[in-house]
Amino acid sequence: MEINTGISEQNRSAISEGLSRMLADTYALYLKTQNFHWNVRGPEFYSLHILFEKQYEDLAEAVDEIAERIRALGYYADATFSTFKNKTAIKEDEKVLNGKEMLHQLVEGHETLCRGARKVAEIADKEGDFATVDMIGRRLGAHEKMAWFLRSQI
Ligand SMILES: [Fe+2]
Repeated sequence: MEINTGISEQNRSAISEGLSRMLADTYALYLKTQNFHWNVRGPEFYSLHILFEKQYEDLAEAVDEIAERIRALGYYADATFSTFKNKTAIKEDEKVLNGKEMLHQLVEGHETLCRGARKVAEIADKEGDFATVDMIGRRLGAHEKMAWFLRSQI
C-alpha cells in the first residue's frame, strides 16, 4: 500500500537517507564504545569499563529506534558493515588507546554524530516530520549528556 501520511515520497526519501547516515554513525559509535569497554586498562579501569557499558547499551537501543523509523518512512534499513563503513563519519581507531585517549575519541564521536543528526532534524522539521524531529531531539539530548559524562573524566 502507498504511504499517505502527509510527507511526500521525495521528502521521506531525503529524511531516510539522513537517518541512514545517523544509523551508521550510531552503530560505529556503539562498536567503538564496546571496544573500549573491553580493552580499557589502567587505574581508571573499573569506572571507565562501567561507564562505557552504560553508554553502549544506550547506543544499541538507539540503533533499533533509528532503523525502525526508516522502515516507518517506507525505506529499507540497510544494515551491513560495508554500508555502515561507507556512510559513517565516525573515525576508526588505528592503534590501541589509553583511557584518556578513549575518552577524547568518544567525545569527538558523540559531537560528530550530533552535528550530522542536527542537519537531518532540520530537514525533517521543514517537511513536517515531527516524529523524526522528536526522535532526533531525544537522541541529541542523550549524546550531549554522554559527551558531558565523558568530558568530565578528562
Ligand atoms: Fe561487558
